[in-house]
Amino acid sequence: MEYVVEISDLSKDYETGFWKKKRVRALDGLSLNVRGGQIFGFLGGNGAGKTTTIKLLMSLIFPTEGSAKILGRDISDVQMHSRIGYCPENPYFYDYLTAIELMDHFGRLFGYDAAQRRLRTEELLMSVGLHEKDWKKQLRKYSKGMLQRVGLAQSLINEPEIIFMDEPMSGLDPVGRREIRELIAGLREKGVTIFMSTHILSDIEALCDEVAILRNGKLAASGNLSDLLENSGEERVLEVSVQGVTADTIREAVEFIAGATIFSKPNGANIQILDENDIDAVLKITREAGGHLTSIQPLKQSLEELFVKETSSDPKKLK
Ligand SMILES: Nc1ncnc2c1ncn2[C@@H]1O[C@H](COP(=O)(O)OP(=O)(O)OP(=O)(O)O)[C@@H](O)[C@H]1O
Ligand SMILES: [Mg+2]
Repeated sequence: MEYVVEISDLSKDYETGFWKKKRVRALDGLSLNVRGGQIFGFLGGNGAGKTTTIKLLMSLIFPTEGSAKILGRDISDVQMHSRIGYCPENPYFYDYLTAIELMDHFGRLFGYDAAQRRLRTEELLMSVGLHEKDWKKQLRKYSKGMLQRVGLAQSLINEPEIIFMDEPMSGLDPVGRREIRELIAGLREKGVTIFMSTHILSDIEALCDEVAILRNGKLAASGNLSDLLENSGEERVLEVSVQGVTADTIREAVEFIAGATIFSKPNGANIQILDENDIDAVLKITREAGGHLTSIQPLKQSLEELFVKETSSDPKKLK
């Protein structure tokens, strides 16, 4: 399958301090390939380097080392940039323009004629859920969530093949988040690739196919989201739930099984085992004590645990 984003060994140092003498490494040797047609989640805690990476890909800042390609073209290729969209972290536009004027301006940049511009403007402002009564308001009177929506609308004006969104849900209320989620999912259905940075875990779970997790400017983990959650290096744990017995009556027998742990719950117990061959033993113990089995399920690591583990800078937790 074809990669639409290929990042190789990309690093960025910022020069800081009054004399620009100090260098801060914001991104450190990032290599990453992203397949087309999906929603790719670019995760990491505050300051991990997400915005830096996206700005490098957009050629708004320049790499200290390394290179990257989008749609098979080097990120310095100007023509390639007309085929992609970018929704910045904090959209900041010309304050005195209205949403309609702003969209018209971007439409002109992409060479659309007046009729096309009007059509696309209306279509897009509608699709991001911006009320018609606000279209002619100056952007300086917009709330954060409204600006976020205009930012999204402008990133779609050129019908991009791939869109880079830096925290598209930030500043949106729950209803707004759901609307934008639906919009993003709809774009994927049309074959658009979305590269989206976020730390809103529920959005990642609802939308993303594959993810990459950055920690301190380095790649901490990447891959298919469900694989990452399942094969996170933790032991696979099966949870057997039983009823009609108390944990206390079977605890001694259960603890004979290597690696088994038992937890009591109302009218029964949950028994966690590491080996599926031990299911029979648990069943036998339960039946002999007059109880019965209600369910067996693998315990998945939650996205939150994975995120905390992979974004923590605690050296003990480094893989
Ligand atoms: N213009 C800059 N000058 C100096 N340092 C910077 C600059 N921009 C970012 N940094 C530093 O680079 C690191 C990465 O920042 P970046 O904005 O890429 O993180 P992020 O993952 O987008 O974080 P957030 O989730 O808070 O948006 C941080 O340590 C930040 O302080
Ligand atoms: Mg950021």
